[in-house]
Amino acid sequence: MIRLANLKDLESLLDIENKSFDDNSFAMSRQNFIYHIKKNTLFVYEEKSLVCGYILLLLRKNSKKIRVYSLAVDKSFMGLGIASKLLKKSFLYALENSKNLIRLEVKINNTKAINLYKKYDFLHIKTLKSYYPDKSDAFVMQKVLFS
Ligand SMILES: CC(C)(COP(=O)(O)OP(=O)(O)OC[C@H]1O[C@@H](n2cnc3c(N)ncnc32)[C@H](O)[C@@H]1OP(=O)(O)O)[C@@H](O)C(=O)NCCC(=O)NCCS
Repeated sequence: MIRLANLKDLESLLDIENKSFDDNSFAMSRQNFIYHIKKNTLFVYEEKSLVCGYILLLLRKNSKKIRVYSLAVDKSFMGLGIASKLLKKSFLYALENSKNLIRLEVKINNTKAINLYKKYDFLHIKTLKSYYPDKSDAFVMQKVLFS
């Protein structure tokens, strides 16, 4: 099931984060997670009481856009469609909040994630040079939900 994260999920979220990202990919700290759980929209995918993945969405009041700030699935649960379910949840959430655009940044060598976003009709709209701490570029990708 997919539900909003709470502070009891912190250890699981940090575990997923540390296995998924390094300092060259803006890995989130404990403080970052606490902040986002309280202030933003962080959904977790839970199965048999285990948190297997998460998606963090940022909304701004006067914008029609939602930003997928981060998405990760625990290595042991990859390839099972969990990221797909979390992304679909974000589409629904956007619609419920009258947002018509979903945007994200992804490292240009992150083939798995780029394939995932393309599968759900995200389009590459621009490239941000030296976006990450290791100076690699980011693709900005976006999906229009309705116009
Ligand atoms: C990218 C990530 C979120 C995918 O999670 P997942 O739950 O394994 O993805 P799904 O099972 O829903 O796969 C959906 C699609 O993603 C793509 N994909 C997933 N794993 C892939 C792989 N190993 N190789 C290529 N494409 C892959 C495919 O298009 C797949 O569709 P298909 O099964 O029809 O081929 C996961 O690999 C991850 O957490 N990676 C580390 C963190 C990360 O890079 N996050 C994205 C930051 S922008």
